[in-house]
Amino acid sequence: MFKIVVLLSGEGSNLQAIINQIDLGNIEAEIVAVISNRADANGLNRAEKAGIPNIVLEHIHFSDREAFDQSLAQIIDSYEPDLIVLAGFMRILSDGFVEKFQNKIINIHPSLLPKYKGLHTHKRAIENGDEEHGATVHFVVPTLDSGEAILQGVVPVKKGDTEESLAQRVHEIEHIIYPQAIQKVIGQT
Ligand code: GAR
Repeated sequence: MFKIVVLLSGEGSNLQAIINQIDLGNIEAEIVAVISNRADANGLNRAEKAGIPNIVLEHIHFSDREAFDQSLAQIIDSYEPDLIVLAGFMRILSDGFVEKFQNKIINIHPSLLPKYKGLHTHKRAIENGDEEHGATVHFVVPTLDSGEAILQGVVPVKKGDTEESLAQRVHEIEHIIYPQAIQKVIGQT
């Protein structure tokens, strides 16, 4: 069975969408572990409820990024995953980590990359008067939000949208494209 490790930092609604599509048989894989860098991430509860091993590795206990990433890599290695899925993992990964797991890490980013790398993507789309916004699933490379795109989902920016209303619409499309992108990667592996 194709093995996935999910990394997250927060709510975990994308994790939930992936769990649901695995349960429906639409993703031919198993999530072998969920790892969070924050102890209060709701994604841990979602994993627990689904019977998935979940681990907290708090970056605040490490002296630097490399030390944290080394511990993270060790835990991941113990699960021998075929794919590492970043689902709202709000940490920049060191070059060494990304190179170690080359072509095995994917991320979802809340913008139509290459537009709006980094943070505050919804705010920037509204401020720029964009008519369309969305999300991109892409392979992770050392340069932030720059790897090859696997799938994009487009949503309209509506008149009167707030950051929150637009984020909500983007989330809905994320929950559709992330499971699809994972199954696409599995099919190509
Ligand atoms: C998602 O919108 C995802 O695109 C974003 O975090 C959110 C996590 O939501 N990721 C990034 O901004 C990565 N740079 P979730 O915890 O409910 O899945």
